[in-house]
Amino acid sequence: MPTLSRSSTVLCLLLALPAMLLAAGLAGGEPWRFAIRPSGDVATKLLVVTLCISPLRALFPQGRWIAWLVSRRRVFGLSAFFYALFHVVVFSASIGRLDWIIQGMAFASMWTGWIAFALLAGIAAISNQTAVTRLGRWWKRIQRLAYVSAALTLAHWLLLSASPFEALVHFGPLAGLWLARVARHFFPPVFRANLKDRSRS
Ligand code: HEM
Repeated sequence: MPTLSRSSTVLCLLLALPAMLLAAGLAGGEPWRFAIRPSGDVATKLLVVTLCISPLRALFPQGRWIAWLVSRRRVFGLSAFFYALFHVVVFSASIGRLDWIIQGMAFASMWTGWIAFALLAGIAAISNQTAVTRLGRWWKRIQRLAYVSAALTLAHWLLLSASPFEALVHFGPLAGLWLARVARHFFPPVFRANLKDRSRS
């Protein structure tokens, strides 16, 4: 049976901390609504961190901390899904009626969230070695749907929020890293010159 390394155990405990605090608040009598925003917020942060790992590895292939992040990518991705699940559960509990939840899906602010969640659930379901072997090259293609989920999450947040600033700040690092990755693809000599300059200084 695979065992968790000490750093993975600490990471899992750290990632579980916000959920424990929210659960403690709910157990202490807070209304369901209290946990909707923070759980969505943490789910989004973890999704962005997960998606930043690939461009970071492409930009800094030698970094030891990148190797650590790559080896923990599954933990971050699954945590993003579990916080999204938490978010959906507390949202559904706060609404309390299935017909209202279904009617709400007609609004763009809601269906963007539901599709983002369905994609994360599908990706989480194939986050195991058996699925990797069975799906072959399709596994990676399906995993890329996480980017669609992130785009829908951004739309969901922008549609629900009065000020788009916070949502845009959350997705800024991901956009920046992808721009840098694309730039490196098209202008590799400029990047190499920058790296040489840095190693000399
Ligand atoms: C499954 C369907 C979903 C529903 C029904 C839903 C519902 C909601 C609702 C009602 C709010 C507003 C809460 C408030 O202003 O008090 C909200 C906010 C939010 N949701 Fe969702 N959501 C869903 C999926 C997701 C997913 C999958 C993510 C991220 C992976 C997400 C991330 C967020 C974020 C970041 C906010 C804003 C938090 C803030 O303003 O700080 N949601 N959601």
